[in-house]
Order: sequence, then structure tokens, then C-alpha cells
Amino acid sequence: MVNINQGFLQLQNNYLFSEVAKRVENYQKEYPNKKIIRLGIGDVTLPIPEVITNAIKKAADEMSQKESFRGYGPEQGYAFLKEKIVVYDYQARGIDFNTDEVFVSDGAKCDVGNILDLFDRENCVAITDPVYPVYLDTNIMAGRSEKQGNIVFMKAVKENKFQPLPEELEKHVDIIYLCSPNNPTGVAMKKKVLEKWIEYAQKENSIILYDAAYEAYIEGEGVVHSIYEIDGAKKVAIEFKSFSKTAGFTGLRCAYTIIPKELEVNGVKLNELWKRRMATKFNGVSYVVQRGAEAVYTKEGQKVIRQNIEYYKENARVIKKGLEEAGYEVYGGENAPYIWLKTPDHIKSWDFLDMLLEKANVVGTPGVGFGKNGEGYFRLTAFGDREETKMAIKRIKELGV
Ligand code: MLT
Repeated sequence: MVNINQGFLQLQNNYLFSEVAKRVENYQKEYPNKKIIRLGIGDVTLPIPEVITNAIKKAADEMSQKESFRGYGPEQGYAFLKEKIVVYDYQARGIDFNTDEVFVSDGAKCDVGNILDLFDRENCVAITDPVYPVYLDTNIMAGRSEKQGNIVFMKAVKENKFQPLPEELEKHVDIIYLCSPNNPTGVAMKKKVLEKWIEYAQKENSIILYDAAYEAYIEGEGVVHSIYEIDGAKKVAIEFKSFSKTAGFTGLRCAYTIIPKELEVNGVKLNELWKRRMATKFNGVSYVVQRGAEAVYTKEGQKVIRQNIEYYKENARVIKKGLEEAGYEVYGGENAPYIWLKTPDHIKSWDFLDMLLEKANVVGTPGVGFGKNGEGYFRLTAFGDREETKMAIKRIKELGV
């Protein structure tokens, strides 16, 4: 008899963003003429800069010529891209990596899920609440659960400035997920807090899975761009980065993961295991897309992606300021493209979604979808079109709080 993976039966019926999309679709079917503004899923709206699409076109042309055609590429990514990553994203910050510590992939979401292949099911993972749902769902799929005691939640609430500390843990954990700047709260973890987590991991022989997909949105002091800016991190942390929110690659697909050679568990290098896993289960990101990602590191590429990031950051300011003027309690939005707001009058998150959809025709993401501590909160993204973002805030203001 076939037995299915019971973990799948423990999952919530729908992935959060699919559930939101379903409600919006139903509403739109009923009211086809309503102009809905979507600030729900964190998907970019600005087109890919031409310097990138030109590189992709050139690479596509190469594929049509016998002399320059390429078949299977290296599963871990082409050297031309990994060299740029090492130089621009790390050496520029005083961090040294070899290219074989960089693994190019088709998304940080895939990598944070797939990385669980490397760990024993008995390992206990710590996840914040609220959290990017992928961390939780992939662990449930891998057979872990809160009931069995191998998933532990750490409160990320306003009382701890949405930055849980190791001393708040009730038991030892083996794997710790940290996302900074955070999805969904939009809060970037202070360097001092991250240092405490590194100390914890060193002391407890734990591993930190550090999701830095929104790193490009950081501004100001006291926050690191890479976990490896902190001494000792190479021995305890894996870092996930993405071109999606940095260079608009949500539809192109390209990301990378850093697994330092120094990172060992019981004498085994995780770098070697991941390499083995990638070679077996992954065919690599397409050549043309990697050429596009390479163009991100040209002078022109850096200039235009910075302009795009600034555009989204300005959206975040518009949302934050507008909501504050309207009397909302608002978090995030400074170092991140997400604004985390408290719903007025303790309205439940999903009710607030429905209310906003019906009365303002604005879509966001219900906080409780990210965990029970997200109940009574709501997330808006800054990735929308500027005029639509302004319109959304105007409509929300008009509702009154
Ligand atoms: C989100 O809205 O949280 C993002 O789309 C997450 C992701 O990049 O998968």
C-alpha cells in the first residue's frame, strides 16, 4: 500500500497568497468594473531594466549559433556570475568567499525549502511568529510539527520590537530561521541582536538559516547587509539572497545561497552536501537568465536597479506616512518594502482584508496568515505602481479608522 507523506495533510488547505488571490478573484468576478489595487503579494511591478534584457537577448542569440550554443550548465551556477557575486556583494563589504561557496538557484524560496534535505528530521527548528509561510510549511512537509516538539515558535511582537532574542527560547534549537529585513513585519534586525544569535549558534552547535532577500532595502546604521559581516558567522550561518526584489527577477528567476566551507556539522561540510544535492536534483538556472543577472553588476545595471529600489522605497514612505496620518499604528517600511500595520478596533486580519477589498478595493495580506501573532495586523507591499499606491492610501484614509 502506498503511504503518502503525512506532513502534507497537516498543512493549511491553501498557501496564504493563493487564498488571498482566490478571494480577490471572487470579488472581481462579482464586481468586474471595480478597479482593484493590489498591494498583497510582494511582487515587483517595474519592468526589467534594458541593460539586463539586452544581456538576455545577446545570450539568447548566442544560443542560436553552433559556436556559442550551450547545453547543460554547471548546476551551481556559471563562474561569470558567481565571480561578480563574490566581488560586488561580499568583497565590497570586506567579506571573502570563493566562488565554490556560492550556489546560484532559481529562487530563495526554493532554497530555504530545499535546504531541509540536509538535516535530520529530529532536528528542532525555531521559526518566528509571524513568519514567511514557506519556512513553516516546508518543515511541516518534512515531517516536523509543533506537537512533536521539533518546531518552536519565537514571538516577533511589538514588545520585543519584532526581533526575538535567543534568551526568549524555552528549549535548545538546532536550526534557526532569521529573515532580515523581515517579511512580513518589515523590521530589520539590529546588528546587536544578530550577534546574540550567532553567539547562541556557536554555543549550542546550531545553524542559522539567514534570509536576506530584502537586503537591498536597508538604509541607516546598526543593521548589517550580510550576516557574514559579523565575526564567527561563517561557521554557523547559511545566507539566502535573491535577484527578485533587488533587480525585478520575480518572473525571470535567479537567486543564490552562500554556504561557507567553514560551516561543518559533526565534521561534515554542508557545502559539500549541498553541492551533491544540487548536482542530483537541480539543473541550474538557464544560461540566458544568468547572463541577465550578471548585467545587474555592470555600472549601468547598478545604477538602474538602485533607481528602482528607491522607487519602491518611496512607495513605502508614501504608505507609512499616509497610514500614520490616518491614525494607524505602523511598523516596518524603512529598511524593507513591507509595511506592517495594526488593524483598527482590533478587527481580525481576514475581516480587515474583506473590508478593505469591499470598501476601498485595496488588497493586502492578512497578518494572521503569517502566524497567530500576526492576528490583528495587516501587511501592505511597497512594490506597487506609485500612482496606484497613492490612490490606495487615499482610499484607506477616506475610510477613516
Ligand atoms: C511575499 O509576498 O511575501 C513574497 O512574494 C514572498 C516571496 O518572495 O515568495
